[in-house]
Amino acid sequence: MILIDQTALLRKQLAQSKAKGRVAFVPTMGNLHEGHLALVREARALAETVVVSIFVNPLQFSAGEDLDNYPRTMANDQAALQAEGVDVLFVPAVMQMYPRPADQQTRVEVPGLSSLYCGATRPGHFAGVATVVCKLFNMVQPDVALFGKKDYQQLLVIRHMVEDLSMPIEIIGIDTVREVDGLAMSSRNQYLNDTERAVAPVLRQQLQQLAVKLGKGEKDISALRQLAVENLDAAGFETDYVEFVDAETLQEMNEDTQHIVVLAAAKLGAARLIDNIEVPLS
Ligand code: PAJ
Repeated sequence: MILIDQTALLRKQLAQSKAKGRVAFVPTMGNLHEGHLALVREARALAETVVVSIFVNPLQFSAGEDLDNYPRTMANDQAALQAEGVDVLFVPAVMQMYPRPADQQTRVEVPGLSSLYCGATRPGHFAGVATVVCKLFNMVQPDVALFGKKDYQQLLVIRHMVEDLSMPIEIIGIDTVREVDGLAMSSRNQYLNDTERAVAPVLRQQLQQLAVKLGKGEKDISALRQLAVENLDAAGFETDYVEFVDAETLQEMNEDTQHIVVLAAAKLGAARLIDNIEVPLS
């Protein structure tokens, strides 16, 4: 595995790799766990060259969020990626990515989608994500890029951007990897204390119960939502949202919706947890 922190060197290295076949890319913010590694393994299976980036992107954090405390574990991450047979690890410095002051940085906005759900609670977040992913795509120029369905809205924002800007990159979504008790793996789970960690799987359990009810034909969405929020709040969460939306568009579901995704976000202590469940109707 080659470690690179300069864009010019990355381009030079990848010019050679591209002659050999397909390039798959997995962007991350590091502090890698089995969820990230599932993306890397799929990338390894799909392409001759696998590129992973680690970059904690300041542009996608608002003031007061956890940018400074975000866990940084470079030595462990490097060893894990080496063991997975990654070819290139790209670790740009902040000045490499954003040499201009933030208020002069060109941004990629994906309108509509970016202001819903997590975007409503975290203004500017998805513009930060789209901007950094667009830059990384231009640097790596992969044939295929992999993203987790755990961040379902993020995956759709990226798909939308790639379509709108005609980027010749295939975007693949990978199922959420979970702890044995069902909690979606996340770097932010480390912010939970022991009591909160014991409660955290309730988020997944509530989503599973909703999926069962929807599967049985339950139609009263607002009653379903209200019960789930009550259950989460009673367990100790501070619920941000539970939304039942069309899985292809993330717009409110209607009579034509074939495939629902229930998206949820809730604070538990210092952690903001997100999860979702897909429910095919038919
Ligand atoms: P990060 O949170 O490090 O996640 C990197 C990738 O791993 C994302 O595509 C995310 O959806 C995926 N992932 C995280 N936890 C997962 C899990 N439990 N199961 C499956 N996949 C999981 O998401 C980001 O970084 C950033 O926003 C980024 C796209 C890198 C842009 O800065």
